[in-house]
Amino acid sequence: MKVIVAKDYKELSSLAADIMEQVIRSKPDARMGLATGSSPVGMYQEMARRCAEEGLDFSKACSVNLDEYVGLAPEHEQSYRRFMNENLFDHINIDKNNTYVALGTGDIDANLKEFQAVLDSKQTDLQVLGIGVDGHVGFNEPGECLFGEAHLEVLDDSTLEANKRFFASKAEVPTKAVTMGLKNIMQAKKLVVVVNGKNKDAATKQLVMTDEVTTKNPVTFVRLHPDCTVIIDQELADAMGYKG
Ligand code: F6R
Repeated sequence: MKVIVAKDYKELSSLAADIMEQVIRSKPDARMGLATGSSPVGMYQEMARRCAEEGLDFSKACSVNLDEYVGLAPEHEQSYRRFMNENLFDHINIDKNNTYVALGTGDIDANLKEFQAVLDSKQTDLQVLGIGVDGHVGFNEPGECLFGEAHLEVLDDSTLEANKRFFASKAEVPTKAVTMGLKNIMQAKKLVVVVNGKNKDAATKQLVMTDEVTTKNPVTFVRLHPDCTVIIDQELADAMGYKG
């Protein structure tokens, strides 16, 4: 596992975009595994800039997202489908028909079967990951065990607390989500984990500064991946006492 300390969020975003650019330029029909949340927003802005100004071409690319809230229709302003359209897909030349965000409404069992079938249909070339305050990746929450495939998760209170900033109140944050499992994530050819800000210090410290792999901190599993890059910012490195 490679760890890079970027001087700030802008540099972190640009370094993550470099990795994505390399994948797309070497394989124009690559499948991108994408995350939502604040962490990759700067990376997505940089990908949009490179598409508009530097000819980075997504016309043959496809994507699959990590997760979606249960109970939010795709057009809901906090759905992850809407997030992806607004933060990335509307700003690059990808065909939206080639982008997949699992449905969080209707028949959830059927949605999960479809989600897993989509994941099984093609290997992801680069999976983008953020980290939850509690160490979750996708919405795989810490616990006694983790799951491999697409499944339903009940969100931890700390996740509801962290994500209430996007809603009018904590009570409005959906309490469940459909998510890729750990096997789905680990099957990607390459992983890039982007983490900024000192509130992720405990989960990130165990990932970066120990050799531990534990279901109590799901992100630690990425250290078992043969091609994983973790990009953190200086503020987080300082909070963890990480010297490289
Ligand atoms: C998002 C996702 C989550 C987030 C994590 C961090 O699709 O799967 O694991 O990456 O909750 O969120 P932010 O970046 O908002 O701190």
